[in-house]
Amino acid sequence: MLTPNFTNPLEDRTNTVRLPSPCIMVIFGATGDLTSRKLVPALYNLAYDNQLPAHFACVGFARRDKSNDQFREEMRSAIDSFSRNKPIDPNLWSTFREQIYYHRSEFHDDEGYISLRQFLQDLDRKYDTKGNRVFYLSTPPSYFPIIIEKLHQHQLIYPFVSNEHEPWSRTILEKPFGQDLGTAIELQNYISKFLHEEQTYRIDHYLGKETVQNLLVLRFANQMFESTWNNRYIDHIQITVSEEIGIGTRGHFFEEAGMLRDIVQNHMMQLLSLVAMDPPANLSAHAIHDEKVKVLQSIRPIPHADVDKYVIRGQYGRGFVNGAAVCGYREEKDVSPTSSVETFVALELYIDNWRWSGVPFYLRAGKRLPKRTTEIAIEYRPVPSGYLFQTSLSTVEPNVLVIRIQPDEGISFKMNCKVPGLSGSLQPVKMDFRYSSYFGLTPPEAYERLICDCMSGDNTLFARADELLASWKLLTPILEQWSKETIAFPNYQSGSWGPASAESLLERNGKRWRLL
Ligand code: BG6
Repeated sequence: MLTPNFTNPLEDRTNTVRLPSPCIMVIFGATGDLTSRKLVPALYNLAYDNQLPAHFACVGFARRDKSNDQFREEMRSAIDSFSRNKPIDPNLWSTFREQIYYHRSEFHDDEGYISLRQFLQDLDRKYDTKGNRVFYLSTPPSYFPIIIEKLHQHQLIYPFVSNEHEPWSRTILEKPFGQDLGTAIELQNYISKFLHEEQTYRIDHYLGKETVQNLLVLRFANQMFESTWNNRYIDHIQITVSEEIGIGTRGHFFEEAGMLRDIVQNHMMQLLSLVAMDPPANLSAHAIHDEKVKVLQSIRPIPHADVDKYVIRGQYGRGFVNGAAVCGYREEKDVSPTSSVETFVALELYIDNWRWSGVPFYLRAGKRLPKRTTEIAIEYRPVPSGYLFQTSLSTVEPNVLVIRIQPDEGISFKMNCKVPGLSGSLQPVKMDFRYSSYFGLTPPEAYERLICDCMSGDNTLFARADELLASWKLLTPILEQWSKETIAFPNYQSGSWGPASAESLLERNGKRWRLL
């Protein structure tokens, strides 16, 4: 169960680009935030860039009463506010709006699925969408089982076929996939009764980010990096996901989730596995997933008794972010005034394999930190003592390769240079590559790439079940331990870099978090 073993005859081992096929995308939870902020703007941007299949329609499925026209107008203002291409193009919109529909139903109501089936068949005739379906489950995860079961019961989900000429159905599941290892296994066992792994697209929007996709290119298309990408040359690695925002209107959600589940379990573990994996046998989804899983399974487990030693949690109190006074987490809407939910996590992890033995991986993720930055910093070992060179510092600074995931996407490399002149002293300098100035274009949003990949049948940038389960297996003891021990929260001020204990985590190994 934990290690699906399948081969996909459609898998494209030469990595040629596959085009999205004609299809209808049905969005469950269509009145939610994600639909208006991300999904429909992503569809519009795909249409804008001529990446949407020529034969396409989108149906919003949700519980509120609404006409097609109402839904379309809401989606128009969503595109106006959140699309990468603004303002909306009236010509494109006049065509695009006609492809959007609304279907009202409860998620458990058989009638709703019977009428949906009929409606989709009518749309197939109108748009020549060939019976192909993308079901996007953008609902709270507790609805996943019932929706999938009903889709199956009413033959909206088809059995998986590897023949490209048969109609296909694919299902995209939003995160979180489970709440811990037990619930993730339960969910996986349940959905796998109805969905083949090849039809299951577990989304992690970090994988759709251009800079994240570039990780494999940086590593495996550049001899100089990959040959030093191991414990002989690398001292440690820091992965930071820092956000200025608090939890906004998502109090209910965050009280259930917390930072470990919301960011670490998915986004950070994905970054870690891409940074640490071995070269895949080829660029197929299967080969890449296999290598990622191996890394996740090689992370040294943190037993309950060691949680406090290797994992730090924090919760923001009041403070100032960008000069503005902000409230503490416990004062946020829909948050308990005594909440023990963490909004900051720092971890020290070790990967027990040949390549990484002894190299610490430090991960930190926090809300209400001073700055929005996601980056991966590879700090190389120092050169053998400083005896050859004089510097103004006591030792020669180590090389650092920084992969800036966002914002200001790019890569920098810090190295030492001789200061011009007679003194012979050294100084660290930085080589900097910026996507915006080099390529001069805005990369597509993560959701555009991922939706397009799903329509093309490419699940490389989606999480496979065993990846998620390996990540839950590592993190569940931490959640269990935390649930047994209370901690004095809040323990960091908004606008600071987290609790003091996060500093000590590195200091005890003679290291420091990078100044961002
Ligand atoms: C989401 C989390 O998955 O990622 C949010 O639920 C978080 O809490 C967001 O703010 C961060 O995404 P990005 O793309 O802005 O880094």
